[in-house]
Amino acid sequence: MSKFFALIPAAGSGSRMGNELPKQYLPLCKKPMIYHAIRTLCDHHSIAGVITVLAPGDEEWSRYDWSEFSGKLIVLKCGGATRADSVLNGLTVAQQKNLINTQDWILVHDAARPCLTSAQLNRLIDELTSDAVGGLLAVPVADTLKRSNSENRVKNTESRENLWQAQTPQMFRCDLLTRALQNATNINVTDDASAVEALGLHPKLVASDAYNFKVTYPQDLALAELILQNRNNS
Ligand code: CTP
Ligand code: MG
Repeated sequence: MSKFFALIPAAGSGSRMGNELPKQYLPLCKKPMIYHAIRTLCDHHSIAGVITVLAPGDEEWSRYDWSEFSGKLIVLKCGGATRADSVLNGLTVAQQKNLINTQDWILVHDAARPCLTSAQLNRLIDELTSDAVGGLLAVPVADTLKRSNSENRVKNTESRENLWQAQTPQMFRCDLLTRALQNATNINVTDDASAVEALGLHPKLVASDAYNFKVTYPQDLALAELILQNRNNS
């Protein structure tokens, strides 16, 4: 029977955050940011294991106590130069170690999305378990979209009809995702779905909400702190 595994690529440096410490370790509600995604994923009853992919030279991980997750958490120090490389390396090593099987579902989730909820996970899993391709959480675009010329003047306004912002988790079967990422090594893919799309497949968009945003710039950290604090107090 196929199982559900989460895979968290956490081998980035957080260059847009502009902090020496990689952003997955920046403090958020008194924990390193990655703690929050790990907790939500480990706590979910459908998820059999949470594979965290760190950079080979990571020296931060071992500074924290992860023992509360020891039943489900698997740590692999095999991250690569890009997010896609980190995910592919994680899938490859996990299969070599017989931790996951080709038919298992893999939910790839950014370490930098700490506000994921169990309700969002439920919806993703419910909508995709019987799907032939898989899919991702996403939000319909709300703002009016402008395309600029090289002088930052509006060239035209783009229609936002049928436009979505991709989030994570992105959920695909292990064999399909591995094949898609192997095929995409020469294409610039910034998420897992675009590698699957490059095979000519059409991942399903599962409606999420703005709370599951990606912490990218310094001001995002303060917003994530407010959201998590507010949840803990309610
Ligand atoms: N990631 C990774 N390996 C890389 C690059 C990114 O595992 N070589 C991970 C990040 O750690 C993060 C997720 O992919 O959890 C999403 O990437 P992003 O938000 O772009 O993080 P960074 O690449 O670290 O940030 P930046 O692009 O600002 O440098
Ligand atoms: Mg990046």
